[in-house]
Amino acid sequence: MCGIIAYTGSQDAVPVLLAGLRSLEYRGYDSAGVAIFDDRANMTVVKTAGRVAALAESLNSRRLRGSVGIGHTRWATHGAVNEANCHPHTSCDGGVAIVHNGIVENYVALRKELVATGHTFRSETDSEVIAHLLESLIAAGDSLVEAVRKSARRIQGAAAVVAASVTEPGEIVGLRLGNAGGIVAGFGDDGNLLASDLLALLPHTNRVAYLESGELVSVTAERISFQNLAGRKIDKPPVETDRSYEAAVRGSYPHFMAKEIHEQPESVTNAMRGRVNFGAGTVDLPGFPLDKADISALRQVVLVGMGTSLHAAMMGSHLVESLACIPSRAENASEFRYRGPVIDERTLVVSVSQSGETADTLAAMEGAALCNARQITVAEVEGSQATRMAEATLFIRAGQEIGVAATKTMANSAVVLYLLALYLAKVRGSLNQKAEKQAVDELAALPGMLSDLLRAEDRYKDLATRISHKEHLLYLGRGPMLPTALEGALKMKEIAYIHAEGYAAGEMKHGVNALISDAMPTIALAPSDRLHNKMVSNVNEVKARGGEVIALVTEGDEVIPGIADAVIYLPRASEAITPILALVPLQLLAYHTAVQLGHDPDKPRNLAKTVTVE
Ligand code: M6R
Repeated sequence: MCGIIAYTGSQDAVPVLLAGLRSLEYRGYDSAGVAIFDDRANMTVVKTAGRVAALAESLNSRRLRGSVGIGHTRWATHGAVNEANCHPHTSCDGGVAIVHNGIVENYVALRKELVATGHTFRSETDSEVIAHLLESLIAAGDSLVEAVRKSARRIQGAAAVVAASVTEPGEIVGLRLGNAGGIVAGFGDDGNLLASDLLALLPHTNRVAYLESGELVSVTAERISFQNLAGRKIDKPPVETDRSYEAAVRGSYPHFMAKEIHEQPESVTNAMRGRVNFGAGTVDLPGFPLDKADISALRQVVLVGMGTSLHAAMMGSHLVESLACIPSRAENASEFRYRGPVIDERTLVVSVSQSGETADTLAAMEGAALCNARQITVAEVEGSQATRMAEATLFIRAGQEIGVAATKTMANSAVVLYLLALYLAKVRGSLNQKAEKQAVDELAALPGMLSDLLRAEDRYKDLATRISHKEHLLYLGRGPMLPTALEGALKMKEIAYIHAEGYAAGEMKHGVNALISDAMPTIALAPSDRLHNKMVSNVNEVKARGGEVIALVTEGDEVIPGIADAVIYLPRASEAITPILALVPLQLLAYHTAVQLGHDPDKPRNLAKTVTVE
């Protein structure tokens, strides 16, 4: 949540910061701002409510020059979306500027104390206290880095902060406290950088170093040095990343979301690379941290995640339990973290998070670590906090996802979790060679089946037209299809702003049937699996009460097409693969509905891609 970029070097800072903010905009787009320091150490702050494009326009008209600067794109937590609450925040004397990601939980007390000592506040944010704290410490004789270090002791809550001051021209200082999102330092040729996200550094360098919680970084054009909260120097050599920037370019697609949906045949292929041997018909997870004895001793597998990643976790738990025969459940990480769940060293906790920075998921991982559970994470972003907390990471390898709505990362997480279930089953002896080969043969066909579904795009456009004027939608599924129903409803809510409920079809008679009318179409996920007959009954029941039904059915289904108002055909596939296939029509249905309603699917209102606060 919120994007941070900072630069100090020999180049003009404005274009560097603007490019960085554009690539970070998916983390928050309520407002954006920069503080630029010129050669005479004068600081100018420019802020705009709204998107980075508005900031760029404002900066273009000012011709601001300076080779040091810090920038921020905001997702509002404290204070309305307006210019005053936009970062950077500055001290009373205008000499210190800070950008912040996270929440200063004790800001009310700190603000009161600072006001009592003569400070004047200009915003409603929690963040502004940091600028005033630094001002006081610098006025008392501290250097910028000392002031940041000392202020860290006063701040409660998780925070990622970058600060600069006219008293130390050329220096930018970063601080990470807890899990409010990361700070990555970039070792460039024409200067050095700090950012909340590796992506913003990639146009400049692939040599980076990540801050851990409780660490500070001081950056000038010539050097980057690290220390801990006690002021002790930390040796942190840069690591080389092979991540490329090109992946974040939209190409000819009208939106990143469209591009990312269409990338799924390729992205799922990447998820399988080196893990599935299509010739031999086997699945392996190289580097898996549990050996045969550990896996055999497992008493339970608990998967945690939020939002779309929770839906992937639900798919995973179903597969782990049915294939590996280990009791398994998926839990919402924000509930799990406070519940005091019964887990121990014979529990495998699998956290699912594309960003690897979701605050609730990280907190759930911390809780699991305290109970000595074994832990792996299923994540996209290399170097992210989850990947550093878990014993090992199963990278999903979807490639950078810019659209706020998760699409290809969902499909890839689901595929990786399927591979995990197959692997555990194989090691525990509940999957024989023939079944493993059958699964591998079907996985080989998955990219082709996804491509076929993507080709039917006009069909989803037509159906979008049919539902875009509705205010309510119901997504029904059973068994393995329930997570997909929940995910379809989430996609529709978040980008088309249509109220959509994902529901277990078996629950209908227990209350929800009361809602059925021609005002609320039902999207019924009814493939030809062992629950098909049950879904036929549900579809009939909805129709009998005047409800409209759009059904996702398996090719060759001769029953539901005769009852439903419209159908989408899925290729014939197993219960493991069908829920993944059905994601595509539901993603495209939500995408086209959002576009037809005039919404920007890449940047839905009130949301940010990475949720680094609770
Ligand atoms: O980065 P994560 O996968 O941990 O993010 C979790 C959720 O915030 C995320 O999946 C969210 O629900 C999606 N962007 C919705 O499309």
